[in-house]
Amino acid sequence: MSDAHTRRIAETQYRTAGNLNARMQLHNRFSANPTGWAQWVFEQFDMPADGRVLELGCGSGALWTTNQDRIPDGWHITLTDCSKEMLDEARHNLDAVGRTFDYQIVDAQDIPLCDESVDAVIANHMLYHVSDRPRALAEIRRVLRPGGRLYATTNGSDHMRETSELMEHVGLPVMSSQVVTFTLENGSDELLEWFAHVEMQRYEDGLHVTEIQPVVDYILSMPNVSATENQLSEIRRIVGAEITRTGAYCIAKSSGMFIARREGALP
Ligand SMILES: C[S@@+](CC[C@H](N)C(=O)[O-])C[C@H]1O[C@@H](n2cnc3c(N)ncnc32)[C@H](O)[C@@H]1O
Repeated sequence: MSDAHTRRIAETQYRTAGNLNARMQLHNRFSANPTGWAQWVFEQFDMPADGRVLELGCGSGALWTTNQDRIPDGWHITLTDCSKEMLDEARHNLDAVGRTFDYQIVDAQDIPLCDESVDAVIANHMLYHVSDRPRALAEIRRVLRPGGRLYATTNGSDHMRETSELMEHVGLPVMSSQVVTFTLENGSDELLEWFAHVEMQRYEDGLHVTEIQPVVDYILSMPNVSATENQLSEIRRIVGAEITRTGAYCIAKSSGMFIARREGALP
């Protein structure tokens, strides 16, 4: 049973895939790193050829559509999200991929799987949304086999600093406090309370945005943002002036992955 916070997230920010898609568009179109984020995430996985994989907060399933040509045949993959609409979107997007995935509505704080039943748990940009994270981490640890790994991605505190400053400048609320509670800087201390070994890999990237509208769409996709026409005009003016002056509006990114291993023999 989900708590009120998780239900609110599922019914507002993730009621449809629109907000997530607007953010992914900006990254997909204007990122400097030629290895896209979803490709890079996939390349960090080290799982048995017949591994059982659980993804929490799978969103629209981008990890699997992007990497569809290299998913090992032997993996048994369960995709889950607390939002029914996001899970439906993942199912729809993965329909054309010629392999089977299991789908289930799951709150990460209450995972309906047996103890020690999976080799890997993926939590891609989602743990910062979870209100009782210790409970979710206890659940993740419980379902992982000894030696199994949690692959948890998140952002650094400086991620997208320019858009945050822009939002602040025009008087828009910047990020919910949830997001800053699990960052690349502080996440490992929390994970070490549940896992024997934790390492962190950074993904080097930045955005060189050459159009105004994708920045506006990104800002409008953020939680609790409802901008007036004056605020939007000021955003357009600043971004447009920078593109005219230097050729691009540049945004710093800071993201990466924690790989946390449960104690015990490697699978
Ligand atoms: C930022 S999106 C990331 C989606 C996807 N992993 C990706 O990287 O494209 C966060 C996702 O986590 C889901 N989510 C938030 N809280 C959750 C919870 N407590 N349990 C399961 N899913 C949750 C949201 O519905 C949303 O789909």
